[in-house]
Amino acid sequence: MAGVPISVRDVSMRYSTRGGAVEVLADFDLAVDAGERLAIMGPSGAGKTTLLALIGGLEAIQRGSIVVGGTDLAHLHGDALAAYRYQTVGFVFQHFGLLGNLSARENIELAMSFGGRSSRDRRARAQLLLDAVGIAHRADHRPAELSGGESQRVALARALANEPRLLLADEPTGNLDGETAERVLELLDRTAADSGATLLTVTHDPAVARRFDRIIQLEPRVIAS
Ligand SMILES: Nc1ncnc2c1ncn2[C@@H]1O[C@H](COP(=O)(O)OP(=O)(O)O)[C@@H](O)[C@H]1O
Ligand SMILES: [Mg+2]
Repeated sequence: MAGVPISVRDVSMRYSTRGGAVEVLADFDLAVDAGERLAIMGPSGAGKTTLLALIGGLEAIQRGSIVVGGTDLAHLHGDALAAYRYQTVGFVFQHFGLLGNLSARENIELAMSFGGRSSRDRRARAQLLLDAVGIAHRADHRPAELSGGESQRVALARALANEPRLLLADEPTGNLDGETAERVLELLDRTAADSGATLLTVTHDPAVARRFDRIIQLEPRVIAS
């Protein structure tokens, strides 16, 4: 399945805090081609997570427009928004976000539970994905029994469960040591390339960023309220 193109136009986000207002994205524009792999850099607080949350439909757009694969996210609400997040987007987070009471396989099966797949299909696909990320031998382990690198592989398998056309990874290697990080990135790269998915990865590491098609840099903007 092909990746989605993304168009972000004139997006501004402002958070009110006790210390005043913080404008994290100011008239922000970004165009991403279908299947492009992009690294997003910038200091802490620059709005990297906010940008991914907006594009992923996790955060409501205050001003401007975001169109993903022809769908204007501002027009999505309720079930349609949930379906967008579920069907189009795969998320990978720094802290993995696996459910501690479920095994690796169950975490992946759960991600498929809103689709029309039978439980037998879900199980088979979870096994296939665990295999693809090189961790089939840990299928019945819970997150507490997995290393950071193993956890992130499971999280990546989960993100791929519904064949997303957009992969959003927020500092996916931020909690991993150098060699493990390198392997997880290779995997992320390869799975995105194999599936054709558009990939947006937040990273602080210039060496990591260089492997992507393009690097964009976000700058923080703090304004008085
Ligand atoms: N829900 C929120 N309420 C108030 N401020 C927020 C909220 N989310 C993010 N911020 C602020 O917006 C800025 C950008 O946050 P974030 O997008 O997480 O940046 P980054 O991921 O680049 O570190 C930070 O200063 C943060 O404190
Ligand atoms: Mg962040």
